[in-house]
Amino acid sequence: MELVILKDDKEIAKKVGDIIIDLVKTNKAAVLGLATGSSPESTYQYVIEKTAAEKIDWKEVVTFNLDEYIGLSETDEQSYCYYMNKKLFENININIKNTFVPSGLVKNDLEAQKYDEEIKKHGGIDLQILGIGTNGHIGFNEPKTSFDSLTRIVDLTPSTIAANARFFDNEADVPKQAVSMGLKSIMNAKKIILIAMGATKAEAIKALIEGNQSTEWPCTVLQDHSDILVVVDEAAASLLS
Ligand code: F6R
Repeated sequence: MELVILKDDKEIAKKVGDIIIDLVKTNKAAVLGLATGSSPESTYQYVIEKTAAEKIDWKEVVTFNLDEYIGLSETDEQSYCYYMNKKLFENININIKNTFVPSGLVKNDLEAQKYDEEIKKHGGIDLQILGIGTNGHIGFNEPKTSFDSLTRIVDLTPSTIAANARFFDNEADVPKQAVSMGLKSIMNAKKIILIAMGATKAEAIKALIEGNQSTEWPCTVLQDHSDILVVVDEAAASLLS
């Protein structure tokens, strides 16, 4: 596991954004795994700007997002699908048919797992971008998730609901369930970059870098991955010894 500690989100956006851009330049049909939330936002903005400046071609790139809230349709402004359209896809020349976000309208795990088949059909994920929850979740794989899990419907913990309430008018509006790629689905990616910013992520980053592997901290599954880069700011690194 490689760890890079940077000053702020601007430096993080450049570090991670340049890796994404280099991949798309060398493999025009690259398969990217993408996250939502605040951690990758500045990276997506950097990617948009660099794409415009260097006329980078995204039309054959394929993307798979990690998760979606159950009950929200693609057009719902709180959905992760809507977030991706606004924060990235509408600003680059990607073919929207090549962008996959788990459907928040799936009825059961069998339907949800078709997502893993779709990823497989596209040859697997070349580069997976991750954020991390304060409780160590990746995707919406909350504490106690099996390391063998695939895409399925999950219950969100009260701490995740509280953390994500900032994106909604009221905490009561935050969906209680999501559909999420599993820990195994994530581990199948060829390369992974995890971004963490701010002191609220420090405990999870300590567990990831220095802790024992345990389902209590889902992020620790990543300790077994052979190609993972963790990019954090100083606050997120503050508990590391
Ligand atoms: C989002 C996702 C989540 C977030 C995590 C951190 O698609 O899968 O695991 O990455 O909750 O969220 P932020 O970046 O908003 O702190």
